[in-house]
Amino acid sequence: MIHARITGTGSFLPERILTNQDLERMVDTSDSWIRERTGIEQRHIAETGQLTSDLAEPAARAALAAAGRRPDEVDLLIVATTTPDRVFPSTACLLQQKLGIHGSPAFDIQAVCTGFVYALSVAEKFIKTGAARCALVIGAETLSRIVNWNDRGTCVLFADGAGAVVLEPSEEAGILSTHIHADGAYESLLTTVKPPPDATPESLADGTAFIEMRGNEVFKMAVNTLGRIVDETLDAAGLSYADIDWLVPHQANIRIIQATARKLGMPMERVVVTVNRHGNTSAASVPLALDTAVRDGRIQRGDMLLLEAFGGGFTWGSALIRY
Ligand code: ACO
Repeated sequence: MIHARITGTGSFLPERILTNQDLERMVDTSDSWIRERTGIEQRHIAETGQLTSDLAEPAARAALAAAGRRPDEVDLLIVATTTPDRVFPSTACLLQQKLGIHGSPAFDIQAVCTGFVYALSVAEKFIKTGAARCALVIGAETLSRIVNWNDRGTCVLFADGAGAVVLEPSEEAGILSTHIHADGAYESLLTTVKPPPDATPESLADGTAFIEMRGNEVFKMAVNTLGRIVDETLDAAGLSYADIDWLVPHQANIRIIQATARKLGMPMERVVVTVNRHGNTSAASVPLALDTAVRDGRIQRGDMLLLEAFGGGFTWGSALIRY
């Protein structure tokens, strides 16, 4: 049986760092509140004019280099993003042009924070059926453009970045299963709205849509839903909690990550945590965390990985991977 195997990972963060102390000067918040409630210490923010495809390109090139592939070998390109450069062309097409790839399919997937898991799930099917032999799958965001910088409830959370993987066919196990879900009944708990009346030009980077979240309700839903998807994933594979070497979760909030780890009975040493330094980069957060742990040597070939994510929609999903 042919599996889709991750043959390379890459990531990119914009240079500019916004610390909790910087935020203390912007809204009524404190470093201690942000650390205690979210685990976030700092986040990276794109420069004005630095768009999602600008972050995706170096992440994609790093993943291709790690896989030993050239851009012209890519025959499927998927970008998961909530913050595309433009309404159209897709960010995938804009990135394709930057990478000098011509002719192969390229499209975006919009599933907010679960976007990368959705994209991985789609790309896996292309590889397994033989429709693609070298898929580039990217999660990339410039969420700072749709944050209301006057809203302390959300502006402390979100950030920018990109992560990428290359998928290729393999006879050895790679992606063992993916599980993706959505329920639009919850759309109003985490959504985008028109600029609020108190918005000032300085608080609006983009000016079209802004994140609005009922944080506490989202928090409870995220913890319960992620607990369920972990069970669904392990049951489908006939595995138990003890078989997982690394949990690579969506980096929304350290308390949500800790709750999922507790459910798995996993010590936090086996959980990849980047939320403290990256904040919540939505579709970029899982591939950014994966690349971080691959490059620093924690994740080794042969390890069993559980990737999971939860986001606006609501959407949620997981991937079980023999790395
Ligand atoms: N600084 C100081 N005080 C604050 C801040 C802040 N930045 N933000 C809110 N507060 C205040 C609130 O006003 C409230 O004050 P009150 O008690 O006087 O009314 C108090 O802190 C508690 O507010 P809660 O919202 O109940 O705080 P909570 O512990 O739930 O933490 C948080 C808020 C961090 C947003 C949390 O709810 C959370 O992480 N939610 C889930 C986020 C998530 O997972 N999103 C999904 C993925 S994101 C995506 O899909 C794009």
